[in-house]
Amino acid sequence: MKNYLRFGSLALLVFLQMAEARDAKTVLASKKLIASTEGAFPPFNYSKEGKLTGFEIELTELLAKKMGLALEWKTMSFDSLLIAVSQDKADLAIASHGITPEREKAVTFSDPHFCTGAVIVSLPGGPKVRGDLAGKKVGVQIGTTFLTSLRTIPGIAEVKSFPKDTDALMALKSNKIDAWVTDLFVALEAKKKVIDAKIEINQPIFEERIAIAVQKDNKDLLALINGALKEILKNGEYAKLSTQYFGRDIRCR
Ligand code: ARG
Repeated sequence: MKNYLRFGSLALLVFLQMAEARDAKTVLASKKLIASTEGAFPPFNYSKEGKLTGFEIELTELLAKKMGLALEWKTMSFDSLLIAVSQDKADLAIASHGITPEREKAVTFSDPHFCTGAVIVSLPGGPKVRGDLAGKKVGVQIGTTFLTSLRTIPGIAEVKSFPKDTDALMALKSNKIDAWVTDLFVALEAKKKVIDAKIEINQPIFEERIAIAVQKDNKDLLALINGALKEILKNGEYAKLSTQYFGRDIRCR
């Protein structure tokens, strides 16, 4: 198994471990939606006073309500979420996954639930643009599109990957890395919370469309999720929640 992981073939790994998904009928009959997330990516999915919360958690609560389903959460490391969905350990994964062709070989994505960008975060005097990363130590979370994108930038002295995105932030604060590449809204939240260090958020290096993953080709469950998402995008519930978290509506335009 390790070798497949090393070569980054998520699709192959998932194929080898596939288990039949609960389809929409089964989910509806069980009256419960089983959702998985990481729980360490504030403000999207994280834990506050021991309770799972965040924009994606509350968004899923709205979706489950629209579907008339109770909600059960499973938390796990970010890099095991898509595999868990393929193994039918959860009906869906919602953890700020960017839609990529590589991931689409392994899972099926819903309509996007927000659009965002990846940014370079540094301390004053640190790297600001892509070109500044040459010769520098850059920290990112393992299994992310941030890591994949850094591999395409030439000359980086070292890409340090961390199990959790918040570990990369800690490393930046304590000067163990020169830059942290993360989500724009995660960076803005960190800037609000971190008062002991002046972190600077620089220009986005790429944009991404973020969506919910279900098991590959679990089409009727996907239709159910997309239907509920459309409704809350239309009836103002999405806009209200998004404004609470970000001061604006972050849907894809
Ligand atoms: N958007 C990035 C990606 O698609 C990062 C997502 C990280 N999510 C998390 N829950 N840690 O890979």
